Amino acid sequence: MDFASINAKYWAGIAADDIIGDNAAPGDELLSRLPVDAKLLDVGCGRGRMAGALSAKGYAVTAIDLNEEAIRNGRSRNDGVTYQVADVTDGLPFPDGTFDAVLTSFVLVNIPKTQRAGVVRELHRVLKPGGYAWINEGTASEGYRLRYDLARPYADEDRTFFVMGDKAFASAIATPEDLKSAIGSGGVARMAHHFTADELRELFSDDDCLHAAASVTASPRTKTEIRMITLVFRKPGTS
Ligand SMILES: C[S@@+](CC[C@H](N)C(=O)[O-])C[C@H]1O[C@@H](n2cnc3c(N)ncnc32)[C@H](O)[C@@H]1O
Repeated sequence: MDFASINAKYWAGIAADDIIGDNAAPGDELLSRLPVDAKLLDVGCGRGRMAGALSAKGYAVTAIDLNEEAIRNGRSRNDGVTYQVADVTDGLPFPDGTFDAVLTSFVLVNIPKTQRAGVVRELHRVLKPGGYAWINEGTASEGYRLRYDLARPYADEDRTFFVMGDKAFASAIATPEDLKSAIGSGGVARMAHHFTADELRELFSDDDCLHAAASVTASPRTKTEIRMITLVFRKPGTS
């Protein structure tokens, strides 16, 4: 199963940010550390709900997503954000040291393990020395244990799971045979990974971790529980 290509295809076809809604947004754990005119980059911005809110606070916000429709939608609001279509796994189209902070909300969960370190290197590269990475991602939940275990033969790590295109279909998948036949019949929409705090700290091990907090909320679209973890890292140095 090619995690990278099924995910790229899925996200190219759906302009989604109503999964998370307004449940994820940087608060004082990031904003209190930023200069008033900070330059921010929202990676995987969807239609720009978070980017637009930050622009309204006066920050200079750039936002990228691989989904063209989401970016068109963001641009049509004229909310002061500079939107750009880009796939972060291809590298970020910005010079080194451009931003005071980079933000990801439920984006690393979609990046296969083999590409994660490269994506984190890119987030780092475009940060100024002393800049911040605000990372808000789905976190591990034992309620997903069956899904993690079913996906384990197809994944190269624990806590990766399949997301099915059809909700009713998803609830019928209880055995390895069910999953095999769902994969065979094209029922899989994408794969995702739930992080532990330690995994994220490991990914950003060159940085200081200034903040880590877990929270639970509900998705406005699916009404299901979302467990998330928010971390703030600081790139060493001063600009
Ligand atoms: C679950 S949505 C989250 C959207 C938004 N960040 C939020 O919190 O509401 C994931 C977003 O990441 C985008 N995405 C996924 N993989 C990406 C990639 N490789 N490069 C850029 N954007 C990506 C998707 O198109 C989608 O808009």
